[in-house]
Amino acid sequence: MKQLRELAIVSKIWNNSKRNLSASSSFLPAIIPPSIAVLILISLIGGFSIQALLYSFIIIVIFDTITLYLLGKFRLQEISKILTTINSIRDNKFSSPDEIRLDKNLVELEGEIKAMFLRTQNDIANLKKLEHVRTEFLGNVSHELRTPIFAMQGYLETLLGGAINDPKVNQTFLMKANHHTQNLNNLLNDLIDISMIESGQMRMSFRYFNVSTYLENIVNEMIPLAEEKNLQLNLYEIRPNLQLFGDKDRIKQVLVNLISNAIKYTEEGNIDVAVEEESKFGRIIIKDTGPGITDSDLDRIFERFYRVDKDRSRAVGGTGLGLAIVKHIIDAHSSKIEVKSKLGQGSEFSFKLKK
Ligand SMILES: Nc1ncnc2c1ncn2[C@@H]1O[C@H](COP(=O)(O)OP(=O)(O)O)[C@@H](O)[C@H]1O
Ligand SMILES: [Mg+2]
Repeated sequence: MKQLRELAIVSKIWNNSKRNLSASSSFLPAIIPPSIAVLILISLIGGFSIQALLYSFIIIVIFDTITLYLLGKFRLQEISKILTTINSIRDNKFSSPDEIRLDKNLVELEGEIKAMFLRTQNDIANLKKLEHVRTEFLGNVSHELRTPIFAMQGYLETLLGGAINDPKVNQTFLMKANHHTQNLNNLLNDLIDISMIESGQMRMSFRYFNVSTYLENIVNEMIPLAEEKNLQLNLYEIRPNLQLFGDKDRIKQVLVNLISNAIKYTEEGNIDVAVEEESKFGRIIIKDTGPGITDSDLDRIFERFYRVDKDRSRAVGGTGLGLAIVKHIIDAHSSKIEVKSKLGQGSEFSFKLKK
């Protein structure tokens, strides 16, 4: 029994020594050349006596083994500390990088681990934020889909329940249900656009184009919409050969969104479209005499689904996604959508394009 225990102790010491020595094996190239040099020196001094050479060889081997043993031991201790730190990070035991501490001679490594820790923390925070945005977006989408579907269901059920034969309401109910199908269609189109843009699938094709004829065509297409509301849609004169750089189709989408917002939210007055030339840019401006937007709303109107007045937006076929799409497209042109507005004093949306 005693012998067995002794054997176990010996084997433990042997294994430990083996571990320590192998951990220091990378120091061998640094230790062997000086040892050989010492051996040569001794043999020179000792006049090449075999005995002196043998003794010094044994002493050097013992000395080197002890040195390597100790080096290996310290190295393993350091590695074990680093491993404990890394495991603690993995197990979320640290709440701030200041809690990470290594030996003084490992400051650089400590700095790197702290930087890595911070980066991972940031990544996790960003992922959580993204997850939150995604859940919120899905919640909004379901709510926005449900609204027109419920409304349509309501009108159709009432019609089926007998209202179809009531000439006082049947036409209006059908028209209302139809209006909601239009809203649903707008929503789906905007959702497709926004998901294409945000997943990076919207291909842009940048070219120079003549702004004057381009804006004339768009404004002419939209005049009937303005006339329906007795609003005047004006296009200010533009230098006939002014060329701006951008994706014509996407910029058209921006302009249609901005002009239709101006028409939708303005009750009287006019909507002016103009281009202001700067030395390297042309600024396209859409200005209305509508209700204006308060400062606190101005900060939010470019968010997805944000509307100042939800019911009003729905009544005019809005989805709350138009300005979010506009912002994405203008950002993709390395430009910025700007808005100046004061409650009761109309709004002015504008953005610059390269000349
Ligand atoms: N020209 C404008 N005048 C006043 N309010 C505006 C104008 N353009 C946008 N808004 C406000 O910004 C909100 C967001 O616009 P948008 O993203 O286009 O969504 P919507 O589909 O509701 O038009 C609108 O609901 C409206 O409240
Ligand atoms: Mg809109």
